[in-house]
Amino acid sequence: MIKTVKDIDLNEKRIIMRVDFNVPMNDGVIQDDTRIQAALPTIEYILSQKPRSLVLMSHLGNPAKDSKKAQEKADKNGKTFDKDAYMAAKHKMKPIAVHLEKLLKTPVVFAESCTGQKDAIAALPNGGVMMLENTRFSDKETAKDSEQQKELAKEFASYGDVYVNDAFGTAHRAHASTATIAEYMDVKVGGFLMEKEVKYIAPMVQDPPKPMLAIIGGAKVSSKIGVLDSLLKNASALIIGGGMAYTFLKAQGHSIGVSLVEDDFLDTAKKLLEDAKAKNVKILLPVDHLCAAEFSPDAKPKPVDSIDIPDSLMAMDVGEKTLALYKSEILSAKSIVWNGPVGVFEFDAFAHGTETVARLVAEATDNGAISVVGGGDSVAAVNKFQLADCMSHVSTGGGASLEFLEGKTLPGIACLDQK
Ligand code: 3PG
Ligand code: MG
Repeated sequence: MIKTVKDIDLNEKRIIMRVDFNVPMNDGVIQDDTRIQAALPTIEYILSQKPRSLVLMSHLGNPAKDSKKAQEKADKNGKTFDKDAYMAAKHKMKPIAVHLEKLLKTPVVFAESCTGQKDAIAALPNGGVMMLENTRFSDKETAKDSEQQKELAKEFASYGDVYVNDAFGTAHRAHASTATIAEYMDVKVGGFLMEKEVKYIAPMVQDPPKPMLAIIGGAKVSSKIGVLDSLLKNASALIIGGGMAYTFLKAQGHSIGVSLVEDDFLDTAKKLLEDAKAKNVKILLPVDHLCAAEFSPDAKPKPVDSIDIPDSLMAMDVGEKTLALYKSEILSAKSIVWNGPVGVFEFDAFAHGTETVARLVAEATDNGAISVVGGGDSVAAVNKFQLADCMSHVSTGGGASLEFLEGKTLPGIACLDQK
C-alpha cells in the first residue's frame, strides 16, 4: 500500500505536489473543474498541517503537439495563427490558479514559469501556496532523453522537502513531475485522491467481490483489448457494447450493415471470444439494436429486432432485448467495472442504452455492489445523467484508469513510498 500525506509529518515542510489539473479549457475558461475539486481534500489537509510552503504543479494539454496541429489547421484554412493567443486560450494555467484561489479561499501565487522558482518559493509567507505554469512548457518534462528529464526533475525536487503525488489521471506517464522527481526526494507519498483511486480500482484486477461484471464499450476494440484480456481473469460476465461490439458480431459471422468495424481486429475478437469460453466467462453482445442511416444527432432512430443488421443501417445504440439481458446481469453482480458507453449517448436519440446501463449500475450499487466507472466517455455519461454520486467510485483518470485496469504498473504510483 502506498504511504499518504497522513503517514508523514508535514509541519513546517516545503511541499512539492503534482496534481492533474488537465481540465477541458476553452478561451481560458475552465469547462469542468472535477479534477480540481478532486484534489481539494489533499490540498486542504496539507494546509491544515501548517507546512512551510505548498507548490502545485500540473500539465494542461500537450502544448507542443496541440499548437502544431492548430497551426496546421489554420494554415490549411488560410487563416493567421496567433500562437500566444492560442497558448493563453488553451494551455496557460493562470485561470486555474485563479479558480483554485476561490475554491481554497486563500491566496495562490501564480508562477509564470515552471522553472527558476526557488527564490520565489523561499519568499512565500509561511503556509503560502504557489501554482506553477504548465509543466509541459518545458520540453524536458516529457523528454525521451532521460538526462534532460532528470535535470527538470531535480529542479522540481529542489522546490520541496516532501513530494506528494495526487495526479492519478497522469500516473501512467513517466514524466519529470509525475515520477522521475521521486528519484531525488527522500519522502514521496500519495494524496487522498491517489489513495482512493487505487483503493477502488486495484481490487478489480486483483480480487474483486464476485460475481464480477465488466461492462466495456466505446468505439474501438483496438484500444480496449488490453482491458478486456485483463478483466477476463476475474469476471463472471463481460458486456461488450458500443461501436466495438460490431467487430465482435462480424467475427461471429453476423451482418452488421455499415456499423463501425475494425477489420484488422476480427481475429483478435475471435480469440477473445474463445478465451472467454475456455474460462467460462459469459459474453453479452447486443442481440438487437437502435440503428440509423447516417451518423448524425438528427438521424431517425430505426429499431432492428435481430442480431443481424440490414446493409444500409449502422448501429447507434443497443435495443430493449439487449437491455433486458444487461439488467439481470448488472443486478446480480457484486462488483462492476464500467469503461465506455454502449451507444452514441452524446446524441439524445441514441442515449437510452447508456442511460439505462447507468441507472442499473446505480441500482446495483444501492443494493450493495461495488461499482467503478473509469474512462473519459463513461464518466461523461454518468455526469450527463447526473448519476456520478450513485456510483462507488468515478475515476478521474482516462488513460490512467484504463492502464491500471489492464493490470499495468503506473510509474506515478510505483515511485511512491510503501507502508
Ligand atoms: C489525461 O487527461 O489523460 C491526463 O491528464 C494525461 O494527459 P495526457 O494524455 O496528455 O498525457
Ligand atoms: Mg490522455
